[in-house]
Amino acid sequence: MLSRQIAAKLQEYETPFYLYDVALLRQTLESLMSIASKYDYKIHYAIKANYDARLLQIIREYGVGIDCASGNELRCAIEAGFDPKQIVYAGVGKRDKEIRYAIEQGILAINCESIEELHLVNELAGEAGRVVSVALRVNPDIDPKTNHCIDTGQADSKFGISYEEILSQVDDIKSLMNIQVIGMHIHIGSQIRELHVFENMCNKVNAIVANLTQLGFELEFVDVGGGLGINYDMPENEPIPNFASVFAIIKQHLKVGARSVHFEFGRSIVGQCGELITKVLFNKTTATGRRLVIVDASMTELIRPALYGSYHNIENITSEEEQRLKYTIVGTACESTDVFDENVSLPITKRGDLLTIKSAGAYGMSMASCYNQHDLPGAVYSDTL
Ligand SMILES: Cc1ncc(COP(=O)(O)O)c(C=O)c1O
Repeated sequence: MLSRQIAAKLQEYETPFYLYDVALLRQTLESLMSIASKYDYKIHYAIKANYDARLLQIIREYGVGIDCASGNELRCAIEAGFDPKQIVYAGVGKRDKEIRYAIEQGILAINCESIEELHLVNELAGEAGRVVSVALRVNPDIDPKTNHCIDTGQADSKFGISYEEILSQVDDIKSLMNIQVIGMHIHIGSQIRELHVFENMCNKVNAIVANLTQLGFELEFVDVGGGLGINYDMPENEPIPNFASVFAIIKQHLKVGARSVHFEFGRSIVGQCGELITKVLFNKTTATGRRLVIVDASMTELIRPALYGSYHNIENITSEEEQRLKYTIVGTACESTDVFDENVSLPITKRGDLLTIKSAGAYGMSMASCYNQHDLPGAVYSDTL
């Protein structure tokens, strides 16, 4: 909970804006990297979670690599000073110019998601006179037990190449002389809170890696993606995700010999470090008795509730009222799904009060849009308050 003092300072900024807790980001990175180094695990930050330049600068200080999902994300990472040799690039639909750029930059691996893509990378690598390192993104058909909107590793998903297809195309893949398959990649979904899912994932990966090796692929690394969830319900109880538990599970169950093991964490690195601060514009009650609080943020600043039905904890940080009421918190966009949450218990909330929408550091700002010609939200950093 933000102190009264901080809340008073926040009144000086134009709302809505993202407030980033820089100290928490550092603690999160320290926790992550100290445990990862014990196991010699390689960590990539999934830059799609948040591109904020100041956050990237801090993340880079900890020696983290990058996982990107487009040519522009790759450019953003390179311009922020990340080492291309620590960058992987996944994505089901890479454009030719994006692949060319990745080849030029000499990144660690292009994580290919279809046989056609492997052919295209091979062709473009040939044109560039290079042999390009790639990883096969395999669809492992695992249920990550998360919101269906953010699962990515089930058989019918658009992501990755089906394992069966890889097996049937081994000779074809091996005939591509301008690519070298150095890695195997999976990413099964996001906001995974049931950690036993990672055990299932390891069992699948073990079998796939053993088979690919037998088939003659000389894999140097296994990239098991991201996906570790955060506590949206009670963020104060778990500001730093439980990296130790996930790594312990992976250490115990993943059997990939001397190959290096990579992770691509997004949400778990930045999710709890950001909150969206918004001001109450109006109160009104619908004919059905629903008490609405209309705030100056909307799905254009934070789309997750409207897009996925995701939950974010909301608090009034300036009200001094004792009595609490139940409110529906809605935004300014011309969309009926632009609702942050219903039945939110808040102290009596009035025009001008500041609300915080918590755990919004990941997939908040990076998914913001200018729909209704809204301005993009600004950013305020805790160490400058
Ligand atoms: C390929 C890939 N890697 C990593 C991530 C990061 O996932 P998370 O933010 O859940 O850690 C994503 C998220 O969509 C992804 O698609």
